[in-house]
Amino acid sequence: MIILRSRAEIEKIRTSCAIVAEILDRLVEQIKPGVTTLDLNAISEDLTSKKRARPAFKGYHGYPYALCASVNEEVVHGMPSKHRRLKAGDIISLDYGVVFDGYFGDAALTVPVGEISEAAVKLCTVTEECLYEGIAKAVAGNRLSDISHAIQDYVEQRGYSVVREFVGHGIGQHLHESPQVPNYGPPGRGVRLKPGMVLAIEPMINAGQADVQVLEDQWTAVTLDRELSAHFEHTIAVTENGPLILSKRENRFTKLYG
Ligand code: MF3
Ligand code: CO
Repeated sequence: MIILRSRAEIEKIRTSCAIVAEILDRLVEQIKPGVTTLDLNAISEDLTSKKRARPAFKGYHGYPYALCASVNEEVVHGMPSKHRRLKAGDIISLDYGVVFDGYFGDAALTVPVGEISEAAVKLCTVTEECLYEGIAKAVAGNRLSDISHAIQDYVEQRGYSVVREFVGHGIGQHLHESPQVPNYGPPGRGVRLKPGMVLAIEPMINAGQADVQVLEDQWTAVTLDRELSAHFEHTIAVTENGPLILSKRENRFTKLYG
């Protein structure tokens, strides 16, 4: 069942998303060679408690950290580690979620560590852009898979591949609610979008093949070919006036690094 959220509920989700957006901004400021992904996890936990919020991922199906930090060939669910020290040329995807006053917010972005290759810049740019292509289809009257198709089409036309194993999701009083939002598929399928639907749209895009593999830690998903992967996510609401990005941040990748 897809829950339609009232104006007041959407504002609550927006409050949680604003906390997530601010924490992601703070984390991005800390990204530099020498920092470990466990350091970033500690910062995210600290900022979250200062906001009187709770990390959404910690304890979710037993996930032991607040932050997902996925470096280079890691696609999603990268487990923070004191052994994973960032180095110049890496890209890192930061995925964060909180719950505040009963409502969840969820967002992700990929950023460079120091100077990165032209190929890495292009991958991140296309991944952020395809997210916005998907969001543009989150319009009342469209079908759910219009979002999915727009993302896939944009990505594949540029020679990249869409990860199939993980999908976006409804969000509200739980981190994951109905419906699932795949990043691929034919247009015109699935439920008709209605004002009040709140979705986390989160394309994971690979430079090489689409296939992924989950490591022995049971969480960290990596590309099978060990090529780079990027991930961007926004929580959005379908409204009478079109899509509303609830987890909006100041700056886009393209503007900062593109
Ligand atoms: N944004 C991701 C998702 O919605 C993060 C979840 S990590 C988990 O699936 F640990 F909570 F699973
Ligand atoms: Co999500």
